[in-house]
Amino acid sequence: MNTTVNNIVVHKAKSSKIDKVDFENLAFGKVFTDHMLVCNYKNGQWEAPQIMPYQPITLDPSAKIFHYGQSVFEGMKAYKDEEDNIWLFRPLENQKRLNISAKRIAIPELPEEYFMEGLKTLLQLDEQWIPTTAGSSLYIRPFIFASGEGFHASPADEYTFVIACAPSGAYFSGKVRVLIEEHYSRSANGGVGYAKAGGNYAGQFYPTQLAAEKGYNQVIWTDDNKHEYIEEAGAMNIFIRIDDTLITGPTSDRILDGITRKSILEIARDEGIKTEVRKITVSELVEAAKSGRLKEMFGAGTAAVVSPISAFGYRGTDYDLPELGSSYAELLKKRITDIQYNRAEDPFGWRYKV
Ligand code: PLP
Ligand code: COI
Repeated sequence: MNTTVNNIVVHKAKSSKIDKVDFENLAFGKVFTDHMLVCNYKNGQWEAPQIMPYQPITLDPSAKIFHYGQSVFEGMKAYKDEEDNIWLFRPLENQKRLNISAKRIAIPELPEEYFMEGLKTLLQLDEQWIPTTAGSSLYIRPFIFASGEGFHASPADEYTFVIACAPSGAYFSGKVRVLIEEHYSRSANGGVGYAKAGGNYAGQFYPTQLAAEKGYNQVIWTDDNKHEYIEEAGAMNIFIRIDDTLITGPTSDRILDGITRKSILEIARDEGIKTEVRKITVSELVEAAKSGRLKEMFGAGTAAVVSPISAFGYRGTDYDLPELGSSYAELLKKRITDIQYNRAEDPFGWRYKV
Protein backbone atom coordinates (compact mmCIF):
# COMPACT_ATOMS: atom_id res chain seq x y z
CA MET A 1 0.00 0.00 0.00
CA ASN A 2 1.28 3.48 -0.86
CA THR A 3 1.00 6.43 1.46
CA THR A 4 2.53 9.89 1.48
CA VAL A 5 4.46 10.99 4.55
CA ASN A 6 6.21 14.38 4.74
CA ASN A 7 5.59 14.68 0.96
CA ILE A 8 7.47 11.43 0.38
CA VAL A 9 5.68 8.52 -1.29
CA VAL A 10 6.09 5.42 0.87
CA HIS A 11 5.70 1.92 -0.59
CA LYS A 12 5.54 -0.24 2.52
CA ALA A 13 7.08 -3.68 2.75
CA LYS A 14 4.45 -6.45 2.81
CA SER A 15 5.98 -7.98 5.92
CA SER A 16 8.85 -7.19 8.28
CA LYS A 17 12.11 -9.19 8.59
CA ILE A 18 12.73 -7.86 12.08
CA ASP A 19 11.82 -11.05 13.94
CA LYS A 20 14.74 -12.84 12.29
CA VAL A 21 17.31 -10.42 13.73
CA ASP A 22 19.35 -11.27 16.82
CA PHE A 23 19.62 -7.81 18.40
CA GLU A 24 21.80 -9.17 21.22
CA ASN A 25 24.57 -10.16 18.80
CA LEU A 26 24.73 -7.53 16.12
CA ALA A 27 27.72 -7.39 13.81
CA PHE A 28 28.55 -4.19 11.93
CA GLY A 29 26.49 -3.56 8.78
CA LYS A 30 25.36 -7.12 8.05
CA VAL A 31 21.57 -6.98 8.33
CA PHE A 32 19.38 -4.31 6.82
CA THR A 33 16.08 -2.73 7.77
CA ASP A 34 12.76 -3.23 5.94
CA HIS A 35 12.92 -0.04 3.86
CA MET A 36 15.28 2.17 1.91
CA LEU A 37 15.06 5.66 0.47
CA VAL A 38 15.64 6.09 -3.27
CA CYS A 39 15.92 9.33 -5.20
CA ASN A 40 16.83 9.59 -8.88
CA TYR A 41 18.60 12.29 -10.84
CA LYS A 42 17.34 12.47 -14.44
CA ASN A 43 17.01 15.16 -17.10
CA GLY A 44 19.19 17.56 -15.13
CA GLN A 45 17.36 17.38 -11.81
CA TRP A 46 16.82 15.37 -8.66
CA GLU A 47 13.33 13.86 -8.56
CA ALA A 48 11.34 13.58 -5.33
CA PRO A 49 12.61 10.77 -3.07
CA GLN A 50 10.52 7.67 -2.42
CA ILE A 51 10.69 5.01 0.25
CA MET A 52 10.41 1.41 -0.84
CA PRO A 53 11.00 -2.06 0.57
CA TYR A 54 14.73 -2.84 0.95
CA GLN A 55 15.65 -4.68 -2.24
CA PRO A 56 18.37 -5.20 -4.88
CA ILE A 57 18.92 -2.44 -7.42
CA THR A 58 18.97 -3.33 -11.14
CA LEU A 59 21.54 -1.56 -13.30
CA ASP A 60 22.66 -1.70 -16.90
CA PRO A 61 26.14 -3.28 -17.28
CA SER A 62 27.33 0.00 -18.79
CA ALA A 63 26.27 2.04 -15.73
CA LYS A 64 29.21 4.35 -15.05
CA ILE A 65 29.54 3.36 -11.42
CA PHE A 66 30.91 0.00 -12.60
CA HIS A 67 33.57 1.48 -14.85
CA TYR A 68 34.58 4.83 -13.50
CA GLY A 69 33.71 4.48 -9.83
CA GLN A 70 31.58 7.61 -9.59
CA SER A 71 30.17 7.12 -6.10
CA VAL A 72 30.17 8.93 -2.78
CA PHE A 73 28.76 7.97 0.58
CA GLU A 74 28.21 9.05 4.18
CA GLY A 75 28.20 7.22 7.48
CA MET A 76 25.82 8.26 10.27
CA LYS A 77 24.07 6.67 13.22
CA ALA A 78 20.62 6.88 14.80
CA TYR A 79 20.35 6.32 18.56
CA LYS A 80 17.41 5.54 20.80
CA ASP A 81 17.20 6.79 24.37
CA GLU A 82 15.39 5.16 27.31
CA GLU A 83 12.12 6.88 26.36
CA ASP A 84 12.38 5.58 22.77
CA ASN A 85 13.17 9.03 21.37
CA ILE A 86 15.25 8.86 18.19
CA TRP A 87 18.38 10.99 17.88
CA LEU A 88 20.90 11.83 15.18
CA PHE A 89 24.29 13.42 15.75
CA ARG A 90 25.12 16.58 13.74
CA PRO A 91 23.28 15.26 10.65
CA LEU A 92 23.61 18.51 8.69
CA GLU A 93 27.38 18.02 8.76
CA ASN A 94 26.91 14.72 6.91
CA GLN A 95 24.47 16.31 4.48
CA LYS A 96 26.95 19.08 3.66
CA ARG A 97 29.89 16.69 3.38
CA LEU A 98 27.99 14.42 0.99
CA ASN A 99 27.68 17.37 -1.36
CA ILE A 100 31.33 18.38 -0.88
CA SER A 101 32.29 14.81 -1.87
CA ALA A 102 29.79 14.76 -4.75
CA LYS A 103 31.11 17.98 -6.21
CA ARG A 104 34.66 16.67 -6.30
CA ILE A 105 33.75 13.75 -8.50
CA ALA A 106 31.26 15.61 -10.70
CA ILE A 107 28.08 14.25 -9.14
CA PRO A 108 25.25 16.83 -8.97
CA GLU A 109 24.61 18.11 -5.45
CA LEU A 110 21.52 16.78 -3.68
CA PRO A 111 19.00 19.25 -2.17
CA GLU A 112 19.25 19.42 1.63
CA GLU A 113 15.52 18.77 2.14
CA TYR A 114 15.61 15.52 0.15
CA PHE A 115 18.40 14.27 2.40
CA MET A 116 16.93 15.43 5.71
CA GLU A 117 13.23 14.82 5.09
CA GLY A 118 14.00 11.51 3.40
CA LEU A 119 16.18 10.38 6.28
CA LYS A 120 13.69 11.40 8.99
CA THR A 121 10.80 9.71 7.21
CA LEU A 122 12.80 6.51 6.73
CA LEU A 123 13.86 6.46 10.39
CA GLN A 124 10.30 7.01 11.60
CA LEU A 125 9.13 4.10 9.43
CA ASP A 126 11.89 1.70 10.51
CA GLU A 127 12.20 3.01 14.08
CA GLN A 128 11.79 -0.44 15.60
CA TRP A 129 15.09 -1.38 13.99
CA ILE A 130 17.08 1.11 16.07
CA PRO A 131 18.77 -1.12 18.62
CA THR A 132 18.67 -0.41 22.32
CA THR A 133 21.30 -2.98 23.29
CA ALA A 134 24.41 -1.38 24.84
CA GLY A 135 26.95 -0.15 22.29
CA SER A 136 24.59 -0.70 19.35
CA SER A 137 22.94 1.80 17.06
CA LEU A 138 21.38 2.02 13.63
CA TYR A 139 24.17 2.63 11.14
CA ILE A 140 22.91 4.81 8.29
CA ARG A 141 24.52 4.72 4.88
CA PRO A 142 23.45 7.50 2.48
CA PHE A 143 25.16 7.12 -0.91
CA ILE A 144 25.00 8.41 -4.47
CA PHE A 145 26.22 6.50 -7.50
CA ALA A 146 26.31 6.97 -11.27
CA SER A 147 23.44 4.92 -12.65
CA GLY A 148 23.63 6.61 -16.07
CA GLU A 149 24.84 4.43 -18.92
CA GLY A 150 27.67 4.41 -21.46
CA PHE A 151 31.36 3.58 -21.78
CA HIS A 152 32.43 7.15 -22.51
CA ALA A 153 34.78 8.23 -19.72
CA SER A 154 32.80 11.26 -18.64
CA PRO A 155 30.31 12.02 -15.88
CA ALA A 156 27.03 10.10 -16.06
CA ASP A 157 23.77 11.86 -16.87
CA GLU A 158 21.79 9.88 -14.30
CA TYR A 159 22.46 9.22 -10.62
CA THR A 160 20.75 7.41 -7.78
CA PHE A 161 20.74 8.48 -4.14
CA VAL A 162 19.94 5.75 -1.64
CA ILE A 163 19.76 5.61 2.14
CA ALA A 164 20.12 2.11 3.56
CA CYS A 165 20.25 1.32 7.28
CA ALA A 166 21.76 -1.53 9.28
CA PRO A 167 21.31 -2.15 13.02
CA SER A 168 24.92 -2.55 14.08
CA GLY A 169 27.21 -3.41 16.94
CA ALA A 170 30.85 -2.36 17.39
CA TYR A 171 33.06 -1.88 14.32
CA PHE A 172 36.15 -3.27 16.04
CA SER A 173 35.87 -6.07 18.56
CA GLY A 174 38.86 -5.02 20.64
CA LYS A 175 41.87 -2.73 20.68
CA VAL A 176 43.45 -2.00 17.34
CA ARG A 177 47.00 -2.78 16.20
CA VAL A 178 48.18 -0.47 13.45
CA LEU A 179 51.04 -0.45 10.95
CA ILE A 180 52.63 2.78 9.78
CA GLU A 181 52.58 2.67 5.99
CA GLU A 182 55.60 3.96 4.12
CA HIS A 183 55.04 2.74 0.60
CA TYR A 184 51.37 2.94 -0.39
CA SER A 185 49.35 6.15 -0.16
CA ARG A 186 45.67 6.72 0.50
CA SER A 187 45.53 10.21 -0.96
CA ALA A 188 47.56 13.01 -2.48
CA ASN A 189 47.51 16.80 -2.71
CA GLY A 190 44.89 17.82 -5.24
CA GLY A 191 43.34 14.36 -5.03
CA VAL A 192 40.11 13.05 -3.54
CA GLY A 193 41.28 12.06 -0.04
CA TYR A 194 39.07 14.67 1.63
CA ALA A 195 35.98 13.24 -0.09
CA LYS A 196 34.09 10.14 0.98
CA ALA A 197 34.43 8.66 -2.49
CA GLY A 198 34.03 4.89 -2.82
CA GLY A 199 37.32 4.49 -4.68
CA ASN A 200 39.29 5.88 -1.71
CA TYR A 201 38.34 2.79 0.23
CA ALA A 202 39.02 0.31 -2.60
CA GLY A 203 42.54 1.72 -2.79
CA GLN A 204 43.11 0.96 0.89
CA PHE A 205 42.06 -2.68 0.80
CA TYR A 206 45.23 -4.21 -0.68
CA PRO A 207 47.73 -2.44 1.63
CA THR A 208 45.42 -3.25 4.55
CA GLN A 209 45.40 -6.94 3.52
CA LEU A 210 49.21 -6.90 3.52
CA ALA A 211 49.19 -5.33 6.99
CA ALA A 212 46.66 -7.94 8.19
CA GLU A 213 49.00 -10.73 7.05
CA LYS A 214 51.53 -9.22 9.47
CA GLY A 215 49.01 -9.13 12.31
CA TYR A 216 47.76 -5.54 12.13
CA ASN A 217 44.09 -4.45 11.92
CA GLN A 218 44.68 -1.11 10.25
CA VAL A 219 47.16 0.93 8.30
CA ILE A 220 48.25 4.36 9.49
CA TRP A 221 48.45 6.47 6.38
CA THR A 222 51.28 8.95 6.07
CA ASP A 223 51.70 11.79 3.56
CA ASP A 224 52.22 10.61 0.00
CA ASN A 225 55.25 12.79 -0.53
CA LYS A 226 57.85 11.60 1.99
CA HIS A 227 55.77 9.43 4.35
CA GLU A 228 56.91 11.69 7.16
CA TYR A 229 53.62 12.83 8.66
CA ILE A 230 50.92 10.76 10.39
CA GLU A 231 47.61 11.35 8.60
CA GLU A 232 44.73 8.90 9.10
CA ALA A 233 43.97 5.43 10.42
CA GLY A 234 41.97 3.61 7.74
CA ALA A 235 38.43 4.89 8.05
CA MET A 236 39.21 6.96 11.14
CA ASN A 237 40.96 10.19 12.02
CA ILE A 238 43.83 9.65 14.40
CA PHE A 239 44.60 11.17 17.81
CA ILE A 240 47.91 10.92 19.65
CA ARG A 241 48.47 11.76 23.30
CA ILE A 242 52.03 12.77 24.19
CA ASP A 243 52.35 13.49 27.91
CA ASP A 244 49.01 15.19 28.56
CA THR A 245 48.58 16.87 25.18
CA LEU A 246 46.15 15.48 22.64
CA ILE A 247 47.34 15.97 19.07
CA THR A 248 45.66 15.42 15.71
CA GLY A 249 46.73 16.51 12.25
CA PRO A 250 45.08 19.42 10.42
CA THR A 251 42.55 18.49 7.73
CA SER A 252 43.71 18.97 4.16
CA ASP A 253 43.18 17.70 0.62
CA ARG A 254 44.38 14.36 1.92
CA ILE A 255 42.48 14.00 5.18
CA LEU A 256 38.74 13.59 5.70
CA ASP A 257 37.18 16.34 7.81
CA GLY A 258 35.73 13.88 10.32
CA ILE A 259 32.69 14.90 12.35
CA THR A 260 33.83 12.72 15.26
CA ARG A 261 37.30 14.32 15.04
CA LYS A 262 36.00 17.88 15.37
CA SER A 263 33.55 16.88 18.11
CA ILE A 264 36.28 15.10 20.09
CA LEU A 265 38.48 18.19 19.82
CA GLU A 266 35.69 20.40 21.23
CA ILE A 267 34.86 17.97 24.03
CA ALA A 268 38.54 17.63 24.95
CA ARG A 269 38.87 21.42 25.19
CA ASP A 270 35.69 21.53 27.26
CA GLU A 271 37.28 18.96 29.60
CA GLY A 272 40.35 21.20 29.97
CA ILE A 273 42.57 18.82 28.00
CA LYS A 274 45.34 20.57 26.11
CA THR A 275 44.81 19.97 22.38
CA GLU A 276 47.03 20.68 19.41
CA VAL A 277 45.96 20.55 15.78
CA ARG A 278 49.27 20.31 14.00
CA LYS A 279 51.32 18.08 11.80
CA ILE A 280 52.96 15.26 13.67
CA THR A 281 55.85 13.30 12.25
CA VAL A 282 56.45 9.58 12.49
CA SER A 283 59.84 10.30 14.07
CA GLU A 284 58.20 12.41 16.83
CA LEU A 285 55.82 9.51 17.52
CA VAL A 286 58.64 6.95 17.64
CA GLU A 287 60.74 9.20 19.90
CA ALA A 288 57.77 9.71 22.24
CA ALA A 289 57.20 5.94 22.37
CA LYS A 290 60.87 5.27 23.14
CA SER A 291 61.04 7.90 25.89
CA GLY A 292 57.78 6.78 27.52
CA ARG A 293 56.02 10.07 26.72
CA LEU A 294 53.56 8.43 24.32
CA LYS A 295 50.50 7.72 26.43
CA GLU A 296 47.69 6.96 23.98
CA MET A 297 46.70 6.65 20.38
CA PHE A 298 43.15 6.24 19.19
CA GLY A 299 41.10 6.40 16.02
CA ALA A 300 37.86 8.41 15.81
CA GLY A 301 35.00 7.99 13.37
CA THR A 302 31.27 7.40 13.20
CA ALA A 303 31.50 3.64 12.71
CA ALA A 304 34.42 3.09 15.08
CA VAL A 305 33.44 5.86 17.59
CA VAL A 306 36.67 6.09 19.65
CA SER A 307 38.90 3.04 19.11
CA PRO A 308 42.00 2.73 21.29
CA ILE A 309 45.18 1.55 19.60
CA SER A 310 47.20 -1.02 21.52
CA ALA A 311 50.40 -0.98 19.45
CA PHE A 312 51.90 0.44 16.28
CA GLY A 313 54.40 -1.19 13.99
CA TYR A 314 57.13 0.78 12.24
CA ARG A 315 60.05 -0.54 10.19
CA GLY A 316 59.88 -4.01 11.73
CA THR A 317 59.52 -2.92 15.37
CA ASP A 318 56.32 -2.97 17.41
CA TYR A 319 55.76 -0.21 19.94
CA ASP A 320 53.22 -1.08 22.62
CA LEU A 321 51.05 1.61 24.14
CA PRO A 322 50.84 1.60 27.95
CA GLU A 323 47.73 0.35 29.78
CA LEU A 324 46.34 3.40 31.57
CA GLY A 325 44.01 3.38 34.54
CA SER A 326 42.05 6.28 33.12
CA SER A 327 42.53 7.28 29.53
CA TYR A 328 41.49 10.25 27.42
CA ALA A 329 40.00 7.74 24.95
CA GLU A 330 37.69 6.33 27.59
CA LEU A 331 36.67 9.76 28.90
CA LEU A 332 36.05 11.22 25.44
CA LYS A 333 34.18 8.15 24.23
CA LYS A 334 31.90 8.33 27.25
CA ARG A 335 31.21 12.02 26.76
CA ILE A 336 30.45 11.76 23.05
CA THR A 337 28.25 8.65 23.38
CA ASP A 338 26.41 10.14 26.38
CA ILE A 339 25.47 13.05 24.12
CA GLN A 340 24.57 10.77 21.20
CA TYR A 341 22.31 8.49 23.27
CA ASN A 342 20.76 11.41 25.21
CA ARG A 343 22.26 10.27 28.52
CA ALA A 344 23.76 13.68 29.30
CA GLU A 345 23.40 17.38 28.60
CA ASP A 346 24.47 18.48 25.15
CA PRO A 347 26.10 21.88 25.71
CA PHE A 348 27.18 22.00 22.06
CA GLY A 349 23.72 21.61 20.48
CA TRP A 350 24.78 18.58 18.42
CA ARG A 351 21.92 16.22 19.20
CA TYR A 352 19.10 16.28 16.64
CA LYS A 353 15.69 14.88 17.47
CA VAL A 354 13.95 12.90 14.74
N1 PLP B 1 38.54 9.30 7.87
C1 PLP B 1 38.04 8.50 6.92
C2 PLP B 1 38.88 8.17 5.76
C3 PLP B 1 36.75 7.98 7.06
O1 PLP B 1 36.25 7.16 6.15
C4 PLP B 1 35.99 8.33 8.20
C5 PLP B 1 34.64 7.79 8.37
O2 PLP B 1 33.65 8.39 8.13
C6 PLP B 1 36.53 9.20 9.13
C7 PLP B 1 37.82 9.66 8.95
C8 PLP B 1 35.75 9.67 10.30
O3 PLP B 1 34.78 10.61 9.90
P1 PLP B 1 33.44 10.82 10.73
O4 PLP B 1 33.86 11.08 12.12
O5 PLP B 1 32.78 11.98 10.11
O6 PLP B 1 32.67 9.57 10.59
C1 COI C 1 32.06 5.72 9.10
O1 COI C 1 32.73 5.84 10.11
O2 COI C 1 30.86 5.97 9.08
C2 COI C 1 32.65 5.27 7.86
O3 COI C 1 32.20 5.69 6.83
C3 COI C 1 33.65 4.25 7.92
C4 COI C 1 33.26 3.14 7.01
C5 COI C 1 34.14 3.07 5.83
C6 COI C 1 32.98 1.87 7.69
